[in-house]
Formats: sequence, C-alpha cells, structure tokens
Amino acid sequence: MIELTINGQSHSLEIDPDMPLLWAIRDVIGLTGAKYGCGISQCGACTVHLDGKAIRSCVTPVSLAQGKQITTIEGLDSKVAIAVQDAWQKLDVVQCGYCQSGQIMSAVDLLSSNPQPGDDDIDNAMNGNICRCNTYVRVRAAIKEAAKSLT
Ligand code: FES
Ligand code: FES
Repeated sequence: MIELTINGQSHSLEIDPDMPLLWAIRDVIGLTGAKYGCGISQCGACTVHLDGKAIRSCVTPVSLAQGKQITTIEGLDSKVAIAVQDAWQKLDVVQCGYCQSGQIMSAVDLLSSNPQPGDDDIDNAMNGNICRCNTYVRVRAAIKEAAKSLT
C-alpha cells in the first residue's frame, strides 16, 4: 500500500512503488492538470511540488513521494501562487496551454525561494520547462509582474 498526500488529501493506493508519481496523480487519482510530455525529465510538463519544490513527476517513483506534501496545479493556493496565476492572466501568457501548469509550478517554486529574481535566475529556474508555442517572453514577463505585485 502506498500512502500519498496530494493537495492536503490522503490517499491509500494499491499501486506499484515504482509507478511514476505522474501516473498516480493523473490515472489513479484523476487530477489531470500535470501533463505527460516526454516521460524522461526533459520537458517539464509534469512538474508538481514535493514539499514545495518543483520536481518532474514522470521520473519520480511514488515510493519517494510517501510522507511528503505533494501539490499539483489544482492545489496551489499560496500568496505567491495566486500572484503568479493573476500575472499569467493579466499578461495572457497561455497559448495552447499544454506546458503551462508545469511553467506555473516552476515559477511558484522560484518566487517562493527568490521573491525578486533577475533574468539569469528566471532562466535557470525555467529552462527545464519547454513550450512548443514559444511563450517564453510572456512567461518571463509574468514572473516579473508577479514579483512586482508581491513587493
Ligand atoms: S513529462 Fe516529465 S519532464 Fe516531460
Ligand atoms: S503554451 Fe503551448 S506548449 Fe506552451
């Protein structure tokens, strides 16, 4: 039995300890905000938080997530998260949307640890989140907008 705490809710699941966390979140629990892109930690579409830090859930076995707080895009509710989501809307960041929950999860992690990131900080934090619609300029602007709103 695997015990997972996702967005504050406990789940007891009869699943393989090696199952990728993304599979458990999407296919077993039914939360579909985190997306499957590459499956090999190269695109960031599957990004969720484990104890507040952004991780790639496609390559994280559920056994490693036991006893930790897992947060998905559906459960984001911190002050930073709200500022990020507001900035995303204000600057109309999203195009097709497929990568965007991963982008937001990484941005919230960045701003939670570094409230006033510079361009290099943003590039370093976000360079694992690929966007085939090329929203990178708006993502960066929205992170700066969120940072400004939090001062
Ligand atoms: S699906 Fe996890 S990094 Fe691409
Ligand atoms: S908005 Fe389409 S992949 Fe990023």
